[in-house]
Amino acid sequence: MNSLRIFYTTFLKYSYFFLGLSLGIGLAVFLSFTGASSNINKCLPNAYILRENTAKGWDILENFDDYEPIIDLQRKPNKPPQHQEKLNRLRPRYYSTELSIKEKLFVGIITNPQTVNVLGVAFNRTLSKHVKTLVYFLKESHPENLSNIFSLQTIIGFKDVSGEKVQLHILKYILDTFVNEYDFFFLVRDTTYVRGSKLLDFVNHLSISQDVYTGHVIHDEIKLNDYCSLNGGLLLSNSVIKKVGQSYTSCLKQSAFSNSQDALGRCITYVTGMSCRQEVQGKTFHAYVVNKDVKKTLQDMDAVDPKDFHVVFPVYNSKDHYQIHKYFSEKELSITHYSIKSVEEHIVQLAPLVPGRNSSVTWPLGLEPHFKPESRFDVISWNHFNGTHKFLDPTDPQVVSRLVGVKQTDTIAILNDCLQWLQKKYGKVFSSQVLENGYWRIDPTRGMEYLMDIKLLNNKQNKIVQKRLEIVRPLNKIEIIPVPYVTEHTRIALVTVVKADEITYAKEFLSEYEVACLEKQENSALLLVFLYGPNDPGKGSKDDVFGQLKSLISFYNNRYRAGGAKIAWLSVKTDIREPPDFAVMDLVCRKLTPESIVLLGNLKMEIRTDYLNRVRMNTILGFQVFFPIPFVQYHPKVQGTTSKNFEIKKDLGHFDIHSYQSMSFYISDYIAARTLIKKEVPFVKTDRDLKNERLYNLEYGIFDMFVRSKLCHVLRAIEPELRIKYRTLSCSLDLNHEAYQQCLHSKKESLGSKSQLAKLILKKEMIQSEQTR
Ligand SMILES: *[C@@H]1O[C@H](CO)[C@@H](O)[C@H](O)[C@H]1NC(C)=O
Ligand SMILES: *[C@@H]1O[C@H](CO)[C@@H](O)[C@H](O)[C@H]1NC(C)=O
Ligand SMILES: *[C@@H]1O[C@H](CO)[C@@H](O)[C@H](O)[C@H]1NC(C)=O
Ligand SMILES: *[C@@H]1O[C@H](CO)[C@@H](O)[C@H](O)[C@H]1NC(C)=O
Repeated sequence: MNSLRIFYTTFLKYSYFFLGLSLGIGLAVFLSFTGASSNINKCLPNAYILRENTAKGWDILENFDDYEPIIDLQRKPNKPPQHQEKLNRLRPRYYSTELSIKEKLFVGIITNPQTVNVLGVAFNRTLSKHVKTLVYFLKESHPENLSNIFSLQTIIGFKDVSGEKVQLHILKYILDTFVNEYDFFFLVRDTTYVRGSKLLDFVNHLSISQDVYTGHVIHDEIKLNDYCSLNGGLLLSNSVIKKVGQSYTSCLKQSAFSNSQDALGRCITYVTGMSCRQEVQGKTFHAYVVNKDVKKTLQDMDAVDPKDFHVVFPVYNSKDHYQIHKYFSEKELSITHYSIKSVEEHIVQLAPLVPGRNSSVTWPLGLEPHFKPESRFDVISWNHFNGTHKFLDPTDPQVVSRLVGVKQTDTIAILNDCLQWLQKKYGKVFSSQVLENGYWRIDPTRGMEYLMDIKLLNNKQNKIVQKRLEIVRPLNKIEIIPVPYVTEHTRIALVTVVKADEITYAKEFLSEYEVACLEKQENSALLLVFLYGPNDPGKGSKDDVFGQLKSLISFYNNRYRAGGAKIAWLSVKTDIREPPDFAVMDLVCRKLTPESIVLLGNLKMEIRTDYLNRVRMNTILGFQVFFPIPFVQYHPKVQGTTSKNFEIKKDLGHFDIHSYQSMSFYISDYIAARTLIKKEVPFVKTDRDLKNERLYNLEYGIFDMFVRSKLCHVLRAIEPELRIKYRTLSCSLDLNHEAYQQCLHSKKESLGSKSQLAKLILKKEMIQSEQTR
């Protein structure tokens, strides 16, 4: 009974399943009897259903039945094309050329040598933000007068053109040069003020599929065909310019055109038969004509709702030009403020209706909400500072250090903003102020955030009050920086310095280089720089300290000759002192071609193909040099493993931010930057130059040289593919001052992590205390 009940309830639960199953089986049995199942698959428009249900289906079916295939035997079978070379179509370099994608707007300004320096520049200042291409056209019979006066984008001068005929020459010039690059052409005299944002907005709403010939319309009473005046500007679509084509020559012959102020508009109307219209595709071009002085005009304009004007003319001096610009800019600014305000109100009004209700409203309104960490590892921590110092800065080994540089200026600026805001809110009741505590962090979704605890003296009540303010400095619009194109095929010259006591390391290094580069035919060359001490037996001598290495190199070169192996050495006879990086690089540069990438390596580094590729991507000729921050292994006894290849783990090593030894650059960039400081640090051309005292008390190294030279970007970033095995650093006093300090830091920090070192100390103390017990 019980089991039956269970079965029954289960059956009820799954009744739909069983129903479906039995129906399916039934249908399959039925269809297999009628033999329809195969038909359904073959002939899809199922006759029964279509006929009964839809009239449309009926049609389809009828057509379907009546369809008689026509066999087209013409030109069949296809013959292979006769001319093979026709297939190799040349593809243009840019897809925009192939798809004939054009720039939106070309603006041509008709000016003259007397005003271009004033009105032309005014145009450049007010319009070039909105329009990419501004071209100035002018008439000048002495082009040499123009050569160095103006710093405007493009000036095109016409020589020996009489009267207003120059307008027709401009038309020809545009036809010859720009017609395939722009959708719209706007031509105007420099005595017109053009509102860039409005004009662009206007053009963006126009379709290029229809002819556009619009602007400030002049009624031609004789011909009854309207034309556009150059004074108020005329806007032409690409298609109209093309229509004019070569016919402009017929205008040249007629004096009616060549003497008219509006030769251009008249000619276009005459040649194409089109009239200039103020209204085009439902949008109207508005020009405002100044008839009194500008101040009066602006007052008049206030009365007629100035939002819509595209151009204002005539404007004969730059002061008026700027005044009109200011007027419109203020108008636009207030419109923007107003719309921001209304959007904010809208957000607040809608808040109760959206998920999260009122808590969905974030401060400041409209900005991204705070970044929400998913786990405790993602929490963005606050950094603590006061008016003069910062505390526990993660990038600084010091616990407390002074605020300097940008951080200091930033703090002062923020504090000032806070005070201004407080005064605006409470009036001038506070006199003195102290920043008690400040906190900052970078929230990747919104920008820089600050919390400021400020102590203020309230003058009226004569007591001290505390205020906490929250400040956000939002992220700006993202800017894309164009960077020259690089590939992963550039040849790298890996340069490594070997001292006399490093022969064993060098052998290991060579065998690693064999595996990583020679066997894989990596596009690289290796240059070992042998530093001979003053008393080391040198070249040719029987017991050359580097003799072994030299024969090893020859061995590799022979073995991999077919694969293009190239290992070379450079012997440098040194003073007692270790030569500075500059000296080594100067000597190396003389051996390599200027177009190779030099990568300064290290005998203890792992040679990884990924690292070489990273170097190729990050080193850009004439643009960027690369100073990676390596991952340096801790002392093997401290971190407890001795494996050859080590991973990136926090117990095995650390990114040594004090290390500036790894670097890569193009020789030509090095030489360019180096030449700037050749007075301070003379070039080292031979070993003998190493005796120069000035090389040994330098204040800076190659990194600082690049930073100071400002010739290239200096990319400094952690590089997981650059791993350096532990070795005892010996910081030599011969290094430049900065490098010596950095070396000391590296030495201290590369022993082990703080916890590993702490454990060691504790262990040692335990042992000691046990011994004394
Ligand atoms: C332009 O150059 C010519 C000759 O080189 C000179 O006579 C003329 O005065 C110059 N004009 C201006 C505006 O400087
Ligand atoms: C013209 O505008 C460009 C781009 O805004 C600017 O780089 C240039 O200095 C300007 N020239 C003058 C003379 O103002
Ligand atoms: C949400 O905000 C609106 C507008 O500020 C307010 O009128 C409403 O009382 C708030 N609702 C709650 C539940 O806080
Ligand atoms: C900031 O803190 C440091 C260290 O505690 C202190 O010496 C300094 O006076 C403080 N500065 C201010 C403006 O309070």
